[in-house]
Amino acid sequence: MTRLKAVILAGGFATRLRPLSCARPKTLFPIVNKPLLEWIFQGLSDNGVNEAILAVNALTQFHIKQQHPRKHGLKLKFSIDPPKTPLGTAGPIKKAEKLIGHDAPFIVLNGDIFAYLNYKELFDTHVKSGALATIALCKVDDPSRYGVAEMGKGNCIKRFIEKPPRDKAPSNLINAGVYVLSPKVFDYIPSGRPVSVEREVFPILAEEGKLFGHFVNGLWMDIGKPEEYLETNRIILDSLTKNIKQKKAKNFELNYPVALDTGVSIGEKSVIGPYAILGKNVKVGKNVQINNSVIFADVTIDDCVSIDGAIIGEAAKIGKNVKICCDCIIADHAKVRDNLELSGKVCPGKEVSENVLKPKVHC
Ligand code: GDD
Ligand code: MG
Repeated sequence: MTRLKAVILAGGFATRLRPLSCARPKTLFPIVNKPLLEWIFQGLSDNGVNEAILAVNALTQFHIKQQHPRKHGLKLKFSIDPPKTPLGTAGPIKKAEKLIGHDAPFIVLNGDIFAYLNYKELFDTHVKSGALATIALCKVDDPSRYGVAEMGKGNCIKRFIEKPPRDKAPSNLINAGVYVLSPKVFDYIPSGRPVSVEREVFPILAEEGKLFGHFVNGLWMDIGKPEEYLETNRIILDSLTKNIKQKKAKNFELNYPVALDTGVSIGEKSVIGPYAILGKNVKVGKNVQINNSVIFADVTIDDCVSIDGAIIGEAAKIGKNVKICCDCIIADHAKVRDNLELSGKVCPGKEVSENVLKPKVHC
C-alpha cells in the first residue's frame, strides 16, 4: 500500500502578526491552547495521511522541535530551506522531491491556515480526474488577498491569478492553501532558486488544462491578521465548549465560553470570559477582568487589570491596575509596569513604562 504523504509549507515570515510572530512561527500559534500545527497533524491523520514533510527554515525547525507538538501518529520529516534563501512556495516542494518520491500524488498545505477539510475526498477527486494539480477552493467575499481561480468546463481551472486587485478578480473562488500534486509537477519547478507555486506553476498548468479545482465546504480560516486569529480562536472555542457543563468557581466568576489550560490560577473577584483563553500556568490576580482575548502560557497578570480584545504572548508580565484593549498585541516576555493603558503593539522582551495608545509597534 502506498503511504499517503503531505508537505506542510511553514517557512514564511508572518509579517501581519508582528510583533507576536517575531518570537514564534505562525504555525505554532496556539488555537485554543493547542499549536496550529497540532490541529493540522490531527486533520491529516484523520484523513489517512501517514507521513508529513515539514518544509521550513532552520529557525522554524528549531521552534517546532522545542515545542514538540503531538504528532497524531504521523511520521515526520523536515526539509530545510537553504540559509538566507527562502525558496518560496514551490521551491521547498522541489527541494523535498527525494523525500516525497515519485510513486504517488501528494497533498500540500500552507501551514498558516486552520482548516478541517476532507483531504481524502480532495485526493480521490484528483486521482480520478487525471489532473496534475487539484486545488481545494473556498468562497470568500474579498478574493484580493488570495489566489483566485477562473473556472472553465467541468472542474478545470482556466486561469489562476495570485492576489488580483479586487475589481479584476475573475471570481470569488480562492485557493484554500491546500492542493494535491502529481509527481509530474516536479518537472514544472526549476531547482536551486525561489519559486512561487501560485505565480509560476499554477498559471502554466491552467494554460495547459492540467489544473483542476475542487470546492470544499469544511471549516476554513486564515489566521494571517490579529483579528482573524482572535476570530478563529472564538469559533473553535465555541465548538469545543458547546456541550460542556459550566463549572461554578468559588471566589471568581467564569463566563463561558472560556478555556483554561492546566496550572491556571485565578484570584478573588476576577471575572474571566466570555471568550477568554488562558494558556498553561497563567497566573491571574484579584479583581481582574478578561474577555475576548488569548493569553499564551506562563503569563502573569497582577491585580485590578482589565483585558479586552487582546493577544498576550508567552511569559509576559502585566503590572497592577493596567487597562489593555482594542486589538492590543503584547509579544512574548514583555513587561508592562503598573497603572498604564495599552492599545498598541509591544515587542518581545520590551519593558513598557508609559501608555501605548497608538497601534504602532512599540519596540
Ligand atoms: N519553506 C518555505 N519557504 N515556506 C514558505 C516560504 C518559503 O520561502 N514562503 C512562504 N512559505 C509558507 C508560509 O509559511 C505559508 O504557510 C505558505 O507558504 C503560504 O505563504 P504565505 O506567505 O502565507 O502566502 P499567502 O497567505 O499570502 O497566500 C497563500 O495562501 C492563500 C490562502 O491562505 C497563497 O497560496 C494563496 O494563493 C492562498 O489563497
Ligand atoms: Mg498565508
